[in-house]
Amino acid sequence: MKAVISATGLWTPEDSISNEELVEAFNQYVDKWNSENAVDIAAGTKDALEYSNAPFIEKASGIKSRFVISKDPILDPNIMAPRIPARDNGEISVLAEIAVNAAKKALEKTGRKAEDVDAVIVACSNLQRGYPAVAVEVQEYLGTSGFGFDMNVACSSATFGLEAARGLIYGGQAKSVLVCNPEICTAHLNFKDRDAHFIFGDVATAILVERDDIAPKEHWEIIHSKLVTKFSNNIRNNFGFLNHCAPEDDGMTGDRGKKGLTDKLFVQNGRSVFKEVVPMVANMITEESANAGVDLADLKRMWLHQANLNMNVLIAKKVLGKNVDIKYAPVVLDEYANTSSAGSIIAFDKYSDDFDAGDTGLICSFGAGYSAGAVFVRKVA
Ligand code: COA
Repeated sequence: MKAVISATGLWTPEDSISNEELVEAFNQYVDKWNSENAVDIAAGTKDALEYSNAPFIEKASGIKSRFVISKDPILDPNIMAPRIPARDNGEISVLAEIAVNAAKKALEKTGRKAEDVDAVIVACSNLQRGYPAVAVEVQEYLGTSGFGFDMNVACSSATFGLEAARGLIYGGQAKSVLVCNPEICTAHLNFKDRDAHFIFGDVATAILVERDDIAPKEHWEIIHSKLVTKFSNNIRNNFGFLNHCAPEDDGMTGDRGKKGLTDKLFVQNGRSVFKEVVPMVANMITEESANAGVDLADLKRMWLHQANLNMNVLIAKKVLGKNVDIKYAPVVLDEYANTSSAGSIIAFDKYSDDFDAGDTGLICSFGAGYSAGAVFVRKVA
């Protein structure tokens, strides 16, 4: 008995924001802030904010645009954040809705009926609420049987979710598991932070993981996998029920309110992340391919986490010891930006149709924690 990937699903928001649109809004905000703070800036008590720049963004990250679920407020220099209308408890939550959208696409590809799915895992970076688990809501709206639960391993949530699904199948808890990765990354991005305002986009992916005897004839065998975590403060988001967005001047002590809004959103030390995560991931891939008995020369493709183009190029080069064609490690960053856990699954969904039976590839995630997951797959047709 084996657990295999039967299909993936991808849901993409209708609206997108180009670097040029994003930078124009950011620079309007800079002009406004500098003019409102002109006296302090002239007195030297505050530093003037600097403009952002679209060519810098593309060169530093490979990102050209990003899909978003709430475009206009992000581009309004007086708001610079998504504004998603609040919903009553009787309505589906926005995170569950986009998870359902992606899950339906995975189910459609296989003809699997929702009631034949017996577990839902929502694995993503930012869950909308404490409880009930979003996965249980997805279960309700899809009409799946069994149970559901949420989990969060930041950008590695999808590969860790995949492994959790495999464990449920091997343990006999489930035969067909939907792993959903709804990522509304723009809601945890500080669009006023020049260093990071360009990084994220919104999307949802889903992975249908099943026992091989019920999976469709054409599927992906999971040959080997490895999960790793190592604590780091270099990528952090402190938002939570003990650390919420109290005003900066409310006099609260402790985590709550100490740094106002700024650290309740995504913060990172991008340079350190780059330097520390590239070798960690390259070594993991090299070691685990040996453990998997997969010769790296036979690996047809790596569907890497999509955080930064230069990072992916370097990981592929370190692993293979030479520069490689972009087809070997396809990029969706240009169109989607960083979509956290969904990134490697988008790449897999879009760039796996040319695989023949017996071809092998690697789904690999990495991100906050630090966390990294490597899942070696072989096409079975
Ligand atoms: N527009 C124009 N210039 C900018 C800018 C912007 N939006 N943001 C930063 N700069 C400037 C900086 O001020 C700095 O100028 P200086 O050299 O005069 O001081 C220069 O560009 C380089 O800044 P730096 O932050 O060092 O850029 P970088 O080349 O490291 O690229 C990242 C930044 C974030 C794209 C890159 O570090 C990265 O992707 N790291 C990994 C991130 C990651 O994977 N995170 C995981 C998220 S889940």
